[in-house]
Amino acid sequence: MAKPKNGRRRVSRRKFLQTAGIGGGAVAVGLWVKSPTSLAAPSAAAAALGPGKVGITLEVNGKKRVLKLEPRVTLVEALREHLGLTGTKRICDHGECGACTVLVDGRATCSCMTLAADVQGKKITTIEGLLQGRNLHALQKAFIDHDAFQCGFCTPGMLMALKALVDKHPRPTLAQVKTAIAGNYCRCGAMPNILKAAQSVANA
Ligand code: FES
Ligand code: FES
Repeated sequence: MAKPKNGRRRVSRRKFLQTAGIGGGAVAVGLWVKSPTSLAAPSAAAAALGPGKVGITLEVNGKKRVLKLEPRVTLVEALREHLGLTGTKRICDHGECGACTVLVDGRATCSCMTLAADVQGKKITTIEGLLQGRNLHALQKAFIDHDAFQCGFCTPGMLMALKALVDKHPRPTLAQVKTAIAGNYCRCGAMPNILKAAQSVANA
């Protein structure tokens, strides 16, 4: 398994599916969170599901959502294609770009490398859940104030990764900010302004 400069392991989709136990009729599910050692081995207690559609209940942005999905459906597919929550972006679909980042029980998680079936009973927060009532979150305001996006494709993932950070460290250092978004790639030229926006929240 190759290890990139940012410390995150690259895992091919084939390897992910093998590790998650998908390959036959039964599925033992795995969870991909944004850390170098985060591809969890399937637990012995993981239920055998499928291969056809099964009932899957997700708690997304504080609401329970009941779906009928094949167990192989990833969280990003469930969010975008079955719940209409298209704010979460799906770009590389391989756990490499961070565009699909959502929070699972407060942890920044690549939803393209996480099976929907595996996050039942957990609290999922997407970019659509970042609003504070009718107001933008401080991070969203800071991104606007600092012109921290161009095409905007990386923006939801960046914001969710930073949300996980500031929830834990309300005044993060620049080093902590850089670590938090080390797996989120901006293909435009917005990274300097993204760092400025994050620092403005940290210094507020
Ligand atoms: S789409 Fe999930 S990491 Fe790129
Ligand atoms: S603003 Fe375009 S990829 Fe970041």
